[in-house]
Amino acid sequence: MRLSEAEIAVHWKEEAHFRPLSKFIGQANLTDPAVMERFSEKNYPECFREYADLLTWDQYWTKTLDTSNAPFFKWFVGGKLNVSYNCIDRHLEKYGTKAAIVWVSEDENEPDIVLTYNELYARVNEMAALLRDFAGLKTGDRITIHMPMVPELPITMLACARLGIIHSVVFGGFSGEACGARIVDSGSHVLVTMDGYYRSGKLLDHKINADIAVKKAESEGQKVEKVLVWKRFHDKVSSPTAMVAGRDFFVQDELKKFRGARVAPVSMPAEAPLFLMYTSGSTGKPKGCQHSTGGYLAYVTATSKWIQDIHPTDMYWCMADIGWITGHSYIVYGPLALAGTSVMYEGVPTFPDAGRPWRIAERLGVNIFHTSPTAIRMLRKLGPDEPNKYNLNFKCMTTVGEPIEPEAWLWYYHTVGRGKAAITDTWWQTENGGFLCSTKPAIDEMKPGSAGPPMPGIYPVIFDEHGKEIPAGSGKAGNICIRAPWPGQFQTIWGDPDRFVKNYFAKYNKDPKSKRWQDWPYFAGDGAVWAADGYIRILGRVDDVINVAGHRLGTKELESACLTVPEVAEAAVVPIVDEERGRVPEVYIAIKPGVKTDPKEVAAKVTSAIETTIGKIARPRAVRIVPDMPKTRSGKIMRRVLASISNHMDYGDITTLSNPEVVEQIRVQVQGTGPVEKKTAPEDIRRFGETT
Ligand code: WT7
Repeated sequence: MRLSEAEIAVHWKEEAHFRPLSKFIGQANLTDPAVMERFSEKNYPECFREYADLLTWDQYWTKTLDTSNAPFFKWFVGGKLNVSYNCIDRHLEKYGTKAAIVWVSEDENEPDIVLTYNELYARVNEMAALLRDFAGLKTGDRITIHMPMVPELPITMLACARLGIIHSVVFGGFSGEACGARIVDSGSHVLVTMDGYYRSGKLLDHKINADIAVKKAESEGQKVEKVLVWKRFHDKVSSPTAMVAGRDFFVQDELKKFRGARVAPVSMPAEAPLFLMYTSGSTGKPKGCQHSTGGYLAYVTATSKWIQDIHPTDMYWCMADIGWITGHSYIVYGPLALAGTSVMYEGVPTFPDAGRPWRIAERLGVNIFHTSPTAIRMLRKLGPDEPNKYNLNFKCMTTVGEPIEPEAWLWYYHTVGRGKAAITDTWWQTENGGFLCSTKPAIDEMKPGSAGPPMPGIYPVIFDEHGKEIPAGSGKAGNICIRAPWPGQFQTIWGDPDRFVKNYFAKYNKDPKSKRWQDWPYFAGDGAVWAADGYIRILGRVDDVINVAGHRLGTKELESACLTVPEVAEAAVVPIVDEERGRVPEVYIAIKPGVKTDPKEVAAKVTSAIETTIGKIARPRAVRIVPDMPKTRSGKIMRRVLASISNHMDYGDITTLSNPEVVEQIRVQVQGTGPVEKKTAPEDIRRFGETT
């Protein structure tokens, strides 16, 4: 069942357009409207040469796009380059003394750390020497990095890139067990971590997660030989967790032996993997999205330049975490490849109060700001007038991660941006490397709530379930796909190429043997509407993925965490609409027959199981212990019905269930004894569970 534009308009009416200021246009990197013509299909794929030419190549490539093993596409084949050289070395002559990274502690009394390109160069080289000569790592090895937002994180990543070591950065807020599972999947023998870090004013023990991760990995047969522990404070240890002799080493102590070391950047093939980034899908196991060296770097560099409008003279702040793809592409690799200055903030945006980001922006003179709708909603709710207290001077501001409601957009535009900043809403995914849809800030008008037109060289199509194209302007929603490959696209799922094909391409591929890219549309897993003005509005996931605060959680992952609690017979996780976080998970649990237990206790155990296997980010809003799950006659749990109840929607026809009577019991338990509620909900909620 799909919605018509009219139905969607209940929540999303067509919005007025806003124009960028001429002052912004005057200084912007991308102002030539002919760009879309240059990147039109008749110039594809050669148009992407323009992106690759932003990089310094050791060896220029011979073939722009190789489709001979479709859908495993290869970009800039024959080319060789090094990512750390492109992000550091090549800037030294002109920008050596300029700030590359400005790090801001969560503790407002702790001074900033400013890394110039010269210092970044020195520290990356020393760390590369340590990884090679002390940790024994070599080109092609994988390494897992479980670190908070500290300068040592990009230093470690760039040191890996210097040697062609494939890094897998796990979001610092993920649990030790989640980190362990990723160590196993990537086959890492080395874990890099940090002893502690600040979160909401507390110095957390992070080292303990390394012990849990190693134990989990070893229980699954993956031996971790070395745990390299950065110290949060150079002169003291911030974790009470003991170091394991022969396995755990403080990085700062070992680095002393490499003072002044220089490591020649290893010239890597364009198609060599640069990193893995795990993300959730419909099934339980996270997918290690493998990103390339040349195509990825070219794509993030060009999009940072054109959409975020980064110049070396700007003060750019992306408030995401480097543990997600946004941070990889738009804190580290894109901005540094452009010789930009990238601000990193350690802590919670609302700590100690909702004025914190604006204080940082004022003090550092941030003029480009990148954040998520969740953060905007939160900052607006807690401090609607806070931005007015500071001298803010943004020339452009970006959002990413979820649809932004026009109301939040307008606050961002007027109150944070003072009506002067160009705003872009960027739609893309972990799998994509960089932006797929966004307005071009100096060229296109802004339209609150719509991501905008496709990026240059990106050719979307919206298909119905049967592969029939839904034309732009028809007012109908469907599944958004991208027809042609682009350089930032991931190469495969680490260790699972079949899943790569099945998940992202099989749905609309008509000839599995085809070597033409035209036969392999990329299925993004999002519902979307293409308006008559060419702007695309993303409606949310069409699979069993819940987008919590702009981050993907797989319902199956959550459900299997619930099933680790011995009393639990069955678990079903559904998304509910949340004002601040977009969606949050709610859990339904059926207890094993005959087990006598306190439901409150089981609920608490379930919450803690989710926090231990995944992390606090996945904490459910509620855990509801129900007498039975609503099921089809073939025994499938009807998650759609549960999602309707949780979101106070009409649960529709339940006559085909094997136990329809339980639905009313659950409804009363959740909503009380009043009449059946019939709220409307966004499309992803309405469709939730349709596929399972
Ligand atoms: C999913 C990808 C890579 C960005 C961070 C999240 C949703 C992302 C938007 C946007 C509406 C968006 C989609 C997408 N999403 N950006 N501008 N408007 N929805 O990366 O964790 O891989 O999640 O986030 O549903 O599929 P991710």
